[in-house]
Amino acid sequence: MKILITGGAGFIGSAVARMLINETDDEVCVIDKMTYAGNLESLAPVIKSPNFSFKQLDICDRLGVDAVFNEFKPDAVMHLAAESHVDRSIDSPGEFINTNITGTYVMLEAARKYLTGLSSENAKKFLFHHVSTDEVYGDLDDDGSLFREDTSYAPSSPYSASKAASDHLVRAWGRTFNLPIVITNCSNNYGPCQFPEKLIPLIILNALDGKTLPIYGNGSQIRDWLFVEDHAKAIYRVVRKGIAGETYNIGGHNEKKNIEVVHAICDLLDELQPKEDKTSYRQQISFVTDRPGHDLRYAIDAGKIERELGWKPQETFESGIHKTVLWYLENRDGWCKRVLDGSYKRERLGVIS
Ligand SMILES: NC(=O)c1ccc[n+]([C@@H]2O[C@H](COP(=O)([O-])OP(=O)(O)OC[C@H]3O[C@@H](n4cnc5c(N)ncnc54)[C@H](O)[C@@H]3O)[C@@H](O)[C@H]2O)c1
Repeated sequence: MKILITGGAGFIGSAVARMLINETDDEVCVIDKMTYAGNLESLAPVIKSPNFSFKQLDICDRLGVDAVFNEFKPDAVMHLAAESHVDRSIDSPGEFINTNITGTYVMLEAARKYLTGLSSENAKKFLFHHVSTDEVYGDLDDDGSLFREDTSYAPSSPYSASKAASDHLVRAWGRTFNLPIVITNCSNNYGPCQFPEKLIPLIILNALDGKTLPIYGNGSQIRDWLFVEDHAKAIYRVVRKGIAGETYNIGGHNEKKNIEVVHAICDLLDELQPKEDKTSYRQQISFVTDRPGHDLRYAIDAGKIERELGWKPQETFESGIHKTVLWYLENRDGWCKRVLDGSYKRERLGVIS
C-alpha cells in the first residue's frame, strides 16, 4: 500500500511510520508542519529507506496538500496531524481550531477531489482514516462504565472539542460525499519519542533532573494507558481490515490514577537509576493547582476492535512503562536534550489566572 501519514514527525505518527517501514513493504509519505511537537530525529531509523518520503507542509495549505495527493497517489491516508496538548489548548485555542478543524476540513476536501480522479476500482480501495481521541466523550464517573463507539460526545477542553469537531466533519464527508472514512478513538498513549510536556516523559525527565514532579490536583484522575507501538499496530489493522464508515475505540485495558502512574515511574527509576543519597524519587512529588475543567476518568471498551478486527494490546502497563523508562534513560543525552533545547522549558501551561 501507499500510505500518506499526516503529523508523521510527531509521537504517534513517527511510531506508525517506523513500524510500516520496518515491518511491511508499504510506501510511506509523511507530511508534517514541524511545530514544536514534530521531530525528524524520531524518523531517523527510516528516513533513508527508499519506501519513505517526507515533506514539510501545513495541512491547512490546500494547494500543497493537493500536490502531495497527486504526486504520491496514496491508497490510504492516516490523518494524525493535530495540536495535541490540552494545557496548550487552554492557553491558545486558536491553533487547535486551525489545525484540528480547518486542517481536517482541508484534508477531507483534498481527498474528495483526489478520489474523483481515481478509477472506480482504486476509489473503492481508498480509505481516509482519522486518528482521534477518547477525550471527545468527556469524562466518566468512577463506576466501572466505559466509553463505547456509540457513547455521546461531550468534550470538556478546547483540545477535545476541536477533535470532536473534526470527527464530525469526517463522518459528514463519509455520509454526504461517500468518502470512505474510518475513525479511531484511542486512550492515552505513552512510549518512546513523546514530547516531554505530557505526563509520563515529563515525570521521567524531571525526576532525573532533580526537579519537582507536578501532580495536578490530588492525582486521582484516571486514564487508560496504551503503549504507542500497540496503538500503531491497531490503527494499521484498521487501515487494512476496517470497514468504511465505522468507528473503532482503542484502549489498553490499563486504567490508572495519575498518582499511580507517577509512583510506578519513581519506583522504576529507584531501581534502574538509584539516587546517590538513596532517597526515593517519590520525594520530588509536588501537588499543584488542578487543570481547569480537568476530566475525572477516561476508560475505553475496546471490545469491538478485538472482536471484529482481532486486535488487542500486547503490552501490559508494567511491561510498557518499563520499556518507556529505559528508552528515556538511554536517550536522555540525545533525543531528549535536543527536544528540550527549544522554547519549552517544562513550565506549567494551561492555568487560567
Ligand atoms: N498522544 C495521545 O495520547 C493520543 C491519544 C489519542 C489520540 N491522539 C491523536 O493522535 C494524533 C497524534 O498525536 P501525537 O500525540 O502524536 O501528537 P504530537 O503533538 O506528538 O504530534 C503532532 C504532529 O502533528 C504535526 N502538526 C501539527 N500541526 C500541523 C499542521 N497544521 N500541519 C501538519 N502537521 C502538523 C506536529 O508537527 C507533530 O509532528 C493526534 O491527532 C491526537 O489527537 C493522541
